[in-house]
Amino acid sequence: MKEKEFHHVLEWFLDAGVSDITSNERFIPGETKKEISTLAELKEVIAQIDTPLKNCALNIVFGVGNEKADLLLLGEAPGAEEDKYGVPFVGQSGKLLDKILASVGLDRTEVYITNILPWRPPGNRTPTNQEIELFRPYVLQHIALIDPKVIICLGGTATKALLQTSQGIVQLRGKKTKIDAISAEIIPTFHPAYLLRSPSQKREVWLDFLNAVNVVGCVG
Ligand code: URA
Repeated sequence: MKEKEFHHVLEWFLDAGVSDITSNERFIPGETKKEISTLAELKEVIAQIDTPLKNCALNIVFGVGNEKADLLLLGEAPGAEEDKYGVPFVGQSGKLLDKILASVGLDRTEVYITNILPWRPPGNRTPTNQEIELFRPYVLQHIALIDPKVIICLGGTATKALLQTSQGIVQLRGKKTKIDAISAEIIPTFHPAYLLRSPSQKREVWLDFLNAVNVVGCVG
């Protein structure tokens, strides 16, 4: 910038009542500060986010599976087992998820699995709106780095967080949808933890997974 232009800019700030510029490095929670081009970089950035969730959790739970997968499964947040091992869906819900995957001819090596929150909420409570807002931009980046064709949202919390909707999972389940921020088709379904309590809904989830496999096979 030429000196004269610089003076104009300075005058503009002074007219606007700005008297003190300390740094042009601002950090707004939920906004990412630097260009992130790899999963490793994203994990590092997420690990540094200042959140009280970290005080109670043992390990960051980032993502697992095939980084080139066409199908991404998005859960809510780690539970005790996931927190212990730093891997998504390794507890009871995870075991059922493996069976659901097997029922449509898939296993973990063919899909990618992550959660809305990378840290276990204390006592497995539901993530707050504030926590979801904080981590949603990173979830979108995570999804962009994997670049799947289809995302299955597991449960109401993941669905609400990704779609930014107030509609419940019963209304949204099985309905293919899209959002501006990502190119993938999104299919909400019930969470495996819910299926453990309500096994009669397993068929619906199986149909949703079949639908996803179909879309993966047909798109692109
Ligand atoms: N439930 C989730 O939503 N995610 C996990 O990783 C484990 C259980």
